[in-house]
Amino acid sequence: IHLATPAIVAVAPAMNQAMWAHAASVANISMLQERGVRIIGPDEGIQACGDVGPGRMQQPDAIVHNLGSLFQTGRLAGKKLVITAGPTREALDPVRYISNHSSGKMGYALAEAAIEAGANVSLISGPVAIAPPERCQFTAVESAQQMLNASLEAAADADIFIAAAAVADYRASSVAEQKIKKQGEQISISLEKNPDIVATVAQQTDCFVVGFAAETQDVESYARDKLARKNLHAIIANDVSRGDVGFNAEDNEVSWIDADSTKVFSKRSKAQLARDILEHMVNHHKL
Ligand code: C5P
Repeated sequence: IHLATPAIVAVAPAMNQAMWAHAASVANISMLQERGVRIIGPDEGIQACGDVGPGRMQQPDAIVHNLGSLFQTGRLAGKKLVITAGPTREALDPVRYISNHSSGKMGYALAEAAIEAGANVSLISGPVAIAPPERCQFTAVESAQQMLNASLEAAADADIFIAAAAVADYRASSVAEQKIKKQGEQISISLEKNPDIVATVAQQTDCFVVGFAAETQDVESYARDKLARKNLHAIIANDVSRGDVGFNAEDNEVSWIDADSTKVFSKRSKAQLARDILEHMVNHHKL
């Protein structure tokens, strides 16, 4: 089959470190590469036999990711995309903060899909539990103010800005220098409004700007209101009142809303949805 197929052929070696280092393996891998076979991995680490070193098979999800990049559509080749993702953390004192349950999954899936489509991607992320994608410019931030600064800097020469982050609407009016001590039965914390990152980027740059609207009711009308108020080119609306989609879930179901149309994307994995959203964005808006 291998000799007859016109398909792209990839191999993911899984070997003991001495086998991988052997002159025969080195020569064979180099011959396969010369014939156009893609070599995925291997990783380094503990091996089934107990040895440690290079030769371990890459993790299956890394193999899938690397295979994805062999099928780049190239639809976003030459474009710079900036994506915000995850929650922000607003400090109250040196040990406490206000935040939210955003997992960052949708923003990271968009970053992966944009990389797959050949874009130059800057991912600006609040604290999340997922590893950043390879082959992107990654900036870790905590507060909304830090996310705004990083976004404005990255968006200055970008083509597309997608705001998938769940930015805290408010921050403490003043951050206590020392840990706040337990006092009476009640304490009050004074909060002040955070800057609106996506609206600021829409106002100050030439990017095509896409926001998200997470709503629990009247999803489309609230989203349309945000689209106009924040001066965005498009907004992706999702209903977060459901447990099976949206925040933290593996799947999502959203609507792409722009000035003259609404397109519903039925429930699918966030990875697939991200690819479909980017394809729609490129086709519908001729980017
Ligand atoms: O107003 P709301 O928070 O519902 O708007 C959601 C959209 O605006 C998301 O795209 C989010 O990333 C963005 N946003 C922002 N800065 C804020 C608040 C929201 O960029 N301070």
